[in-house]
Amino acid sequence: MALQVVIMAAGKGTRMKSALPKVLHRLGGRPLLQHVLDAAAALGASRPIVITGHGAGAVEALAATAGARCVRQQPQLGTGHAVQQAVPLLPDDASTVLVLNGDVPLIRPATARALAEACQGERLALLTIELADPTGYGRIVRDTSGAVVGIVEHKDASTAQRTVREVYTGIMAAPSALLRRWVMALRDDNAQREFYLTDVVAMAVAEGVPVVASAVNDETEVAGVNSPLQLADLERRLQRRQAESLMEAGVRLADPGRFDLRGTLECGQDVEIDVGCVFEGRVVLGDGVRVGAHSVLRDSRVDAGAVIHPFCHLEGAAVGPGALVGPYARLRSGAELGPQVHIGNFVEVKNSTLGEGAKANHLAYLGDATVGARVNYGAGSITANYDGANKHRTVIGDDVHVGSNCVLVAPVTIGPGATIGGGSTVSKDAPAGQLTVARARQAAVPGWQRPRKPPKAG
Ligand code: UD1
Ligand code: CA
Repeated sequence: MALQVVIMAAGKGTRMKSALPKVLHRLGGRPLLQHVLDAAAALGASRPIVITGHGAGAVEALAATAGARCVRQQPQLGTGHAVQQAVPLLPDDASTVLVLNGDVPLIRPATARALAEACQGERLALLTIELADPTGYGRIVRDTSGAVVGIVEHKDASTAQRTVREVYTGIMAAPSALLRRWVMALRDDNAQREFYLTDVVAMAVAEGVPVVASAVNDETEVAGVNSPLQLADLERRLQRRQAESLMEAGVRLADPGRFDLRGTLECGQDVEIDVGCVFEGRVVLGDGVRVGAHSVLRDSRVDAGAVIHPFCHLEGAAVGPGALVGPYARLRSGAELGPQVHIGNFVEVKNSTLGEGAKANHLAYLGDATVGARVNYGAGSITANYDGANKHRTVIGDDVHVGSNCVLVAPVTIGPGATIGGGSTVSKDAPAGQLTVARARQAAVPGWQRPRKPPKAG
């Protein structure tokens, strides 16, 4: 069955009160439209058609990344008018056109596929749902035999019609040639003076084309985003979906209600994640990894048995097996910790590799450094890796001890087994196996007197 997806995304989204086009607002870290484009791709449809209008430039840029074709609708005269714009791109045959909404992001591909199959190239298939409060939605109108005869918009509905709780979700599938003809024949003689796509239902009925209404159970699949409140509500529902599938796979979330995944998270066995963590981009956690409360991990890998203590920030980092990180540690891009490395509180690591068992436990900075195995990097020590124009590397050999409050002025190499005395500013290479001290010698000044205040008069 040839399938053509049309995504309506021209609407203004007035209630978002935002300069950003509505369909570009993010849900689970991805634009709303991206979710719909992904659903279209999962259906194996040919290049989808996106109807753009408000913020067309930015919306089209996103659509192009998914290989979609865009048509502009200017001005926006309703959903029927939106589909009219796509007519020149729709095939004039019995292939199926599936109409999706750019602001209804969580439609499951299986649901959309079932709707397209119900169309079978010869019927009009409507996705419907029963709502406790149907206010604002188009109502499904049935005749006395129960057959669908039309959709009436809320603003055009009679008091009796408004009691109907079966509503149209905004998603339909129709034979392409018929849909082309129907939308070109739409009129705007209604309460909103818009061209309603929903009027094609009555046209189908008038021509004897069968109309099938297929109900969806999960309201989340057809929930639209019109306001920041609805966006946040849908975000929680998406997070709940993701949390449940992780927990089904054995991941132990302390509280699925306080978990946020904005990308992909791959977990081994016996992974534990405490409350308030945020995962962005692609994160991979090995067997037995524990992530403490309120940590943010983005595009990072944490190997088996490692522990991320609370309040850590990882971005573009790789943490070796059995390593301990935090609390309050920051691992930036290119931070690569070997096995059993310890990174303590208020330590920042950027573009640096640390060998097995190396430790930087307190208040330190390692940038552009190659750190050997078993190195102990003292509290308050930093690599001065930037001269104002260029970045330089610091190489620290195996078994080096760097005392507290040292400045390693790169480029500089500390030989294996060396010890750097606390408070040193090291700007020349330090030899292996020796103590290097680079600071003023301590001196006691005999007979020195502390200044005194003159005695008070009277
Ligand atoms: C529409 C349906 C209604 C259904 C409801 C479900 C019509 C006439 N009514 O109503 O039966 O219950 O969806 O949510 O179709 N859009 C355009 N161009 C336009 C107008 C809209 O691209 O000129 C896009 C919007 O960006 C949005 C979608 O079409 O993605 C739906 O538009 P919206 O105004 O939200 O439709 P409703 O009036 O809510
Ligand atoms: Ca509307």
